[in-house]
Amino acid sequence: MLKRTLAACIAATTMTAATAADVEVLHYWTSGGEAKSVAYLKEKLTEAGVGWKDFAVAGGGGENAMTVLKSRAVSGTPPTAAQIKGPSIQEWGDLGFLADIDSVAQANNWDALLPSVVSDVMKHEGKYVAAPVNVHRVNWLWANPAVFQKAGATIPTTWDDFIVQAKKIKDAGLIPLAHGGQAWQDATVFEAVVLGVGGADYYQKAFVELDQATLASDTTDEVFRVFGELRGLIDENSPGRDWNVATSMVINGEAAMQIMGDWAKGEFTVAGKTPGVDYVCVAAPGTSGAFTFNVDSFAFFAQSDADAQAGQQEMAKQILGEDFQEVFNLNKGSIPARLGMARDNFDSCAHASMDAFVASAQTGGLVPSFAHGMAVSEAVSGAIYDVATNYFNSDQSPADGKSQLVEAIQAAM
Ligand code: GAL
Repeated sequence: MLKRTLAACIAATTMTAATAADVEVLHYWTSGGEAKSVAYLKEKLTEAGVGWKDFAVAGGGGENAMTVLKSRAVSGTPPTAAQIKGPSIQEWGDLGFLADIDSVAQANNWDALLPSVVSDVMKHEGKYVAAPVNVHRVNWLWANPAVFQKAGATIPTTWDDFIVQAKKIKDAGLIPLAHGGQAWQDATVFEAVVLGVGGADYYQKAFVELDQATLASDTTDEVFRVFGELRGLIDENSPGRDWNVATSMVINGEAAMQIMGDWAKGEFTVAGKTPGVDYVCVAAPGTSGAFTFNVDSFAFFAQSDADAQAGQQEMAKQILGEDFQEVFNLNKGSIPARLGMARDNFDSCAHASMDAFVASAQTGGLVPSFAHGMAVSEAVSGAIYDVATNYFNSDQSPADGKSQLVEAIQAAM
């Protein structure tokens, strides 16, 4: 009996020792829907005996968070895990900062659980160094049908029609496009125009492969022409506005539409709104067969402490769990990164995203989001941000926009 009790005690002690570590997690999820999503990760880890040290750095798109991360890494105290994604994971891996969590990935069969478009990005030199939480679709248009009805407008499916319908809404005294004037939001709208006007092949050649001839083609003039038309369709208070504040303008009927990734859906959900009733989600104009993907992930920073390593491994394991992938994504507005998940609890927007993800992968319409760090290096995406935001906030001509884009990308490559 004593032996059994002692054995149980030892087992309990060992368990605590192996799982007692805290994880310090850097992220930028501070809006209503985002905070609810990340809270679930904290909950799962707490249940598993891992303490959570929250390291939230506000600022949509994550630019502020990345600046803070760099200063912590340079001073030799990186967090246990940080929300980084896309080619940045490779950049951090090349610098030798990341921890290999391949044993967790192998034990849990991640190669079979993830589409290769996702798993490839999570590996550095063939080993997993990051865990994906979701797949966001960026090319969405969020619309308030009551506002459209008031203005006698219809939900647009092409950019030319977008401009026609938006003018009707403006004439009715309402705001056509809810927008936050921050560089990453300008780039998000610009990306939707690139995809809708140029199509997926143009997008891939120009903004992923950075082919100079494609960037300098007439299609780029047309992209800037349409993008320029949108300047007159936003309200004068947009400079500096946060993306979730713009979403709330659509939610409360002040504005008709927002072009934003499906993290916007998290805000509609928190506000108790139902898709197809209170709001409508459709592909951004001209992009119905395409899908700009944005996979959020946590990369793990090398730790010397065994407890900290155990905490990282538990976090990686929880992230790919079915339960986490479902609840987190219901809150976040995205779809699970993990394959083969039940669809029943997801709404019609998520179903549309799941279907478009599969269909676009077959047609070549599945492209990485350059506005959300999935397509090109930080230097190149920074150059695109600058050009898009300068253009949108000035009266530059399409020809000016194009020449600045070609030059800025060339200089950043
Ligand atoms: C994206 C990120 C999303 C989202 C958004 C706003 O780049 O992938 O998770 O929350 O920014 O911050």
